[in-house]
Amino acid sequence: MNMVSKLKEILSEYEGLVAKIDKEADLMNLKAQFLGKSGKVTEILKGLKDIGPDERREVGPLANEVKEKIAHLTDSRLAHLEKSAIDKQLSDERIDITLRDKTKYDQPRHGGYHPRTLIQQEIEDVFLSMGFEILDGPHIEDEFHNFEALNIPGDHPARDMQDTFWFHQEPNEHGKRHLLRTHTSTIQVRGMMAKKPPFRFIAPGIVFRCERTDASHEMVFTQLEGMMVGKDISVSNLIYFMKQLLTQIFKKEVEVRLRPGFFPFVEPGFELDIRCLICNGSGCSVCKQVGWVELLPCGMVHPNVLKSGGIDPNEWNGFAFGLGLDRLVMMKYGIDDIRHLQSGDLRFNSQFSTY
Ligand code: PHE
Repeated sequence: MNMVSKLKEILSEYEGLVAKIDKEADLMNLKAQFLGKSGKVTEILKGLKDIGPDERREVGPLANEVKEKIAHLTDSRLAHLEKSAIDKQLSDERIDITLRDKTKYDQPRHGGYHPRTLIQQEIEDVFLSMGFEILDGPHIEDEFHNFEALNIPGDHPARDMQDTFWFHQEPNEHGKRHLLRTHTSTIQVRGMMAKKPPFRFIAPGIVFRCERTDASHEMVFTQLEGMMVGKDISVSNLIYFMKQLLTQIFKKEVEVRLRPGFFPFVEPGFELDIRCLICNGSGCSVCKQVGWVELLPCGMVHPNVLKSGGIDPNEWNGFAFGLGLDRLVMMKYGIDDIRHLQSGDLRFNSQFSTY
């Protein structure tokens, strides 16, 4: 057989073999058998020196062409093998996220209430039964409702950029800048303006502080404001309502202590602490190792605040409190990190569901 037809035969042999290869190593072996040191094509090239110049002129370029074709066939087979390996992996490892895990849920799951909602509803019931109304207010406020009307002067540290999220926006028609409310006490102002004394209301809602997060601090958390305005309201009225609240929530005697506390909008002002229910007072990350948790700032409404709300402080007085709902949830359920509450993790949330 002459060299030309031999080369053609070699090429068609390679074409036949390469199409059956399905492993990269086999492919490399096959290629070596044709193009390697003593491969079939190489052998032919070696023989070129023994043939006449006319034949060599024909065989030489053809041998190179066959060599290139074999190299090309090898590359495309390799690319094909790599692609099918990836396709196989993708189809083997495909996860159908819409598929329910039958071992866990043999019927659709019910939604449930977040523990904070559960506590909020409980507290609302307690206060409704004591003649309080429930009020609401906007999250975006201005510095009048959040600070000025609450007797917080312009240089108070609570106004520091660290604490407050301000809006970079034109002030409103009264020249007041906008902010995200830092407390629900804004609703004290709105309540006083909307109502005629005597009145009593609570106002639950989320508030915002530009603070670092840790086990007991979140930038967005929930407060429940309370206010009672009437004639001759005293600190003992305040203590009575707070005790009512705590016994109902914890369904047991909770140890409390009152410390003087400063808030520009109350005078006198107090901090009501409860004995930490996570560690029973021995010290943990929630109570910052002191055994007590600050739960409830409160006090007698400052006369300036009554005045800003259009109420005559010579005729009326009252108390106000701001309960941190997240802390209360943590105490009630023994949760040691406030960040769980915002996590949206169903494994966490579903533990409190009443269904
Ligand atoms: N608004 C205060 C705060 O967020 C709490 C508070 C409310 C204190 C009512 C006294 C009376 O820190």
